[in-house]
Amino acid sequence: MDNRNAYELRETGFHPAATKHYEGAFAQGSGYLHIRGSFEEGLLAADQNEEYMRLPANVTVEKPRHPRSKYGTYVPGVTGNHPLLKEELVNLPNPLAFRVFSGKEGLDMDESNIWDYTRSLNLKNGVLTRSFVWNPKAGGSVGCRYERFVSRRRPGLIVQKMTYTALSGKTPLRFVNDIDEQVKTNGYNHFTEVKKGVRNERVEVGVVTDNGDSVYLSSRAFSDQILFTRDSLNPVTVSEVYLRQGESVTIYKLSAVCTSRDPDGGAGFPKLTERLAKAAKACGRLYTENEAEWNALWEQAAVTIEGDEKAQRAVNFSLYHLMRSASPTDDRIAVCAKGFAGEAYFGHFFWDTELYLLPFFLYNFPDTAKNLASFRVRTLEGAKENARAYGYAGARYPWESSVSGLEQCPNWQYADNEIHITADVVFGLWHYYRATGDEAFLLNAAPVFTETARYWLDRVEYRADGSVHLNGVMGPDEYICFCNDSAYTNTMVKFALGKTLEALSLLREKDPRAYEALSVDRDFLERAELVREKLPVHRREDGVILQCEDFERFEEPHFERFWPDRSKHFGAVVSQERNYRVKALKQPDVLMLPYLFPKRYREEEIEKNIDYYLPYTTHDSSLSAIIHSILFARLGKEEEAYDFFARGLDIDLDEQTGGAAEGIHIANCGGVWQALVFGFAGMLPAYESETPVFAPKLPKEWKSLSFRIVYRGRRYQVSISENNADITEL
Ligand code: BGC
Repeated sequence: MDNRNAYELRETGFHPAATKHYEGAFAQGSGYLHIRGSFEEGLLAADQNEEYMRLPANVTVEKPRHPRSKYGTYVPGVTGNHPLLKEELVNLPNPLAFRVFSGKEGLDMDESNIWDYTRSLNLKNGVLTRSFVWNPKAGGSVGCRYERFVSRRRPGLIVQKMTYTALSGKTPLRFVNDIDEQVKTNGYNHFTEVKKGVRNERVEVGVVTDNGDSVYLSSRAFSDQILFTRDSLNPVTVSEVYLRQGESVTIYKLSAVCTSRDPDGGAGFPKLTERLAKAAKACGRLYTENEAEWNALWEQAAVTIEGDEKAQRAVNFSLYHLMRSASPTDDRIAVCAKGFAGEAYFGHFFWDTELYLLPFFLYNFPDTAKNLASFRVRTLEGAKENARAYGYAGARYPWESSVSGLEQCPNWQYADNEIHITADVVFGLWHYYRATGDEAFLLNAAPVFTETARYWLDRVEYRADGSVHLNGVMGPDEYICFCNDSAYTNTMVKFALGKTLEALSLLREKDPRAYEALSVDRDFLERAELVREKLPVHRREDGVILQCEDFERFEEPHFERFWPDRSKHFGAVVSQERNYRVKALKQPDVLMLPYLFPKRYREEEIEKNIDYYLPYTTHDSSLSAIIHSILFARLGKEEEAYDFFARGLDIDLDEQTGGAAEGIHIANCGGVWQALVFGFAGMLPAYESETPVFAPKLPKEWKSLSFRIVYRGRRYQVSISENNADITEL
């Protein structure tokens, strides 16, 4: 990927093999609506309507279909039911569709004669621009320029502008404005109803998903110079122009989307017609008002690195996608693992939300963070249902969540065993409370604390010798799929139970009636204290924390023999059977603990654990590199910290590996922000400190690092140079 300035992501020359990668990297969105960076005219060779049965698989090593291109139009929360993958985010009809013909030839990036192709995404305002010269087979030469954005001011509105200029010769052009409803989600048809038509000059599509969500899309192309009219055969609008040398035509296309999940119930086509009419009237302002919204976001969230342009650009890319993907207004959704930029992981929400994403929002946009935290409070009923289904009391949060909070993970290993999510949720709520001081929220969330505690009290095993254990779990390292007393899981459960007791005593003091309503009795309180105290975290004598009780009995992975080609994931070259019985780590597990709780662990202890676990760690998960960067930065091991940071920056930007093809690794984006603030700037998280405290250790080449944070309702400007932090309240 060739980049111009720190806020521009550029593809120079059309790279057919990287089409899907750019579709992900160039994803645009507003929190309400997201679209992948596909071409307006699509690609002839890439059928978007292929039906197939995608099987549940480990998506890290899966070879996905759609090698060339995958359209994606997503409204978070609009879901469908897949017979094997469970509830998934539905890929909606593609409102970008706009085709152009010269004679019989339809413009196609693969087939047509194209020159001087560049495409770039302006990260500052979310505008995607593509320009190239097309020499149609029938003669002439046309300069083509496409610009588009998803409006941040008017959620659900997409603005496109197309300009065609005859550079030489005379060129007849024919335009087709469409909404392409011939799309599938992971090869599956989730539409139980599809209606398409043209009303006045608008193309309208309405679909109902098999989950009962209705979605309406309406689109209008117009121009000062030419008229679009209904096509006599198809539900599209069309227009024609004959350009002489030097002449050009500019066309706008406005599309609006609404759904039955909207607060006003979607209101259907009449509402969209009204919105489109208003937008058309304000056409001149749409660009600047969108830019103003983005500017306001950047004003808070920009992180400025002096002395490292490459890193700056990649950081901007991560921040852009973070700001794009979360909804500032909707607490019925979280951010899915692919940042709503692809269909891997089916639009599900993971622990990524609490551990990787929440901090960025907490310390920049606490209102958005509140939505993410509220999402878990809202889905408590689903979590209770999960506990019931597994035969336990209380609430068990799903490893993979959709809108209901019911377990959506299609793979048994993770669904059954990766139960640390239930403690991670409480950790996230507590972090929200500590970072914002929002006591009312905490008190309101008390049932999540007590119900999840009830689950733990039922899920643990109490032995006759008085010991307590949590067996048959999967920690963050998904390559050990079943183990006893996982250090990470137990530490988080202890944390969650401790905070439950704290939250309860606060509630008792502040709102005795609400406390009574929770019916916590003495037995509950005593057992919560007992389990909190007794759950073991095993250590070797030399201080190495054991990932699980029997970690040392797992076999050596013999990477030199079984993993000679490090360009591939370890998980992709060994069988699952071998993987599950050796000490290969997919991602940090024990090392998550010093990352989360910097004040609890001594430096020698952290170093010892890094020395032990790092050689076993494959980094097959994109959630891995950035945690190591943070640990090394805190230890002052600048080179290692920077190396891992750079690996994190590359994950979605490396065209060779096609990192963004299936969507954005949004947890890593959140990790990038954390590496800057918790790593290089050394900020203590708010659950470990009353005030913002920094212990900066910048990479040598960096002259300075500056950013803003919001901490307990106060805004600060932080400027770090020569490892001194200058903190000014704003
Ligand atoms: C990782 C999980 C993560 C999930 C979604 C997996 O590959 O192992 O930790 O939650 O991806 O990002």
